[in-house]
Amino acid sequence: IPLLLLALLAAYLLGSIPTALWVGRRFFGLADIRQHGSGNAGATNTFRVLGKKAGSAVMAIDVLKGYVATALPAWLAVAPHGSGPLLYAQLGAGALAVLGHIYPVWAQFRGGKGVATILGMMLALAPATVGVCVLVFLTMLALFRYVSLASMTAGLAFALLQLLPAFRPAQPLLLWVGFAIAVLLVYTHRANIGRLRAGTESRVPMPWAR
Ligand code: G3P
Repeated sequence: IPLLLLALLAAYLLGSIPTALWVGRRFFGLADIRQHGSGNAGATNTFRVLGKKAGSAVMAIDVLKGYVATALPAWLAVAPHGSGPLLYAQLGAGALAVLGHIYPVWAQFRGGKGVATILGMMLALAPATVGVCVLVFLTMLALFRYVSLASMTAGLAFALLQLLPAFRPAQPLLLWVGFAIAVLLVYTHRANIGRLRAGTESRVPMPWAR
């Protein structure tokens, strides 16, 4: 049990690392990225405000946070490999990393929207499903050029895919996790939804228009 608590605490602290904020401060002298662009401390806003290199770095680190946190209980062998209790521990750790990312203890509890960290978490648990969701994300982005809309659709796709026999997880629990993720993403994107409805959400420029 202490090992499990250690993994859960580490997961929250890891998720709490405010990558976008730190990259902006350390490499661009930007005091607080949350005062620029969409005001979000995430990869998308880093792309928007600080460019491709910074955005990709934040994206990679935020995905890694979710992946490492979710893999940690398995690495520490808190429960036998492939067991139900291990899956619970991994889901708990992944969820805490995502919560840390959204409510970071290191940054006044104002972080990102959870997309990259959820991606990392699910990469550790259901990589094939994540692959399909990434395709859904890219298709939506190409069609509509709203990252927020593409993120929410990909989250919903993750939940719906769990209903298909081909993707049906060994653990039915993932179905509920999928729907919880979809609901969480709608919640963290509530300001984006308001802007989408008002027609004021910012669009990603087409690559050839740059
Ligand atoms: O990664 C979050 C994304 O879906 C939206 O970010 O900055 O456009 O609010 P942003």
